Amino acid sequence: MMIGIMSDSHDNFPGVIRALEIFHERNVEMILHAGDVIAPGMRYAFEHSEADLRLVYGNNDGDRVGLKRDFARVGGKFLDDFGEIEVDGLKIALLHGTYEPVVQGLVEGGRYDVVIRGHNHHFAVQRGETLLINPGEVWGHFTGRKTVALLDTETLDAEIVSMGTCPSIEDLTGLRPS
Ligand code: NI
Repeated sequence: MMIGIMSDSHDNFPGVIRALEIFHERNVEMILHAGDVIAPGMRYAFEHSEADLRLVYGNNDGDRVGLKRDFARVGGKFLDDFGEIEVDGLKIALLHGTYEPVVQGLVEGGRYDVVIRGHNHHFAVQRGETLLINPGEVWGHFTGRKTVALLDTETLDAEIVSMGTCPSIEDLTGLRPS
């Protein structure tokens, strides 16, 4: 099965629409969102998606009640702060990744085949006993790059897919975000 992975959408509605187009083209059956959707109204972007959508909260997701309620209307399931997903014999951990030692502990602990995290907005695929995937950001303005990821559960192939560039915070303000 193909899993579409995205994170840190930060209210980028067109970005989510583009991500869903890519997922549709690639026959994605499950979508995992690793936090920071932000507004409950972002669920409208998922109105026509038939993929099984699971999400966790990020540190910027303020209206948790509204997010859970509104995403349920499009079949989306919020797994609170931490998701454990079993699919095709794989154990997947899904979390925003606000705390680095927690992410590292999950990767090193051997309990999961795949750990999916976001938060730092930098895409990464790290191979080891546990596969770590950070899809980067749908928002784009932190790094200047909009990306999502794809995971094939049969081959464990993980791919970062570019959705283009945009002005970064540094381009717009001269400030380097930390
Ligand atoms: Ni975050």
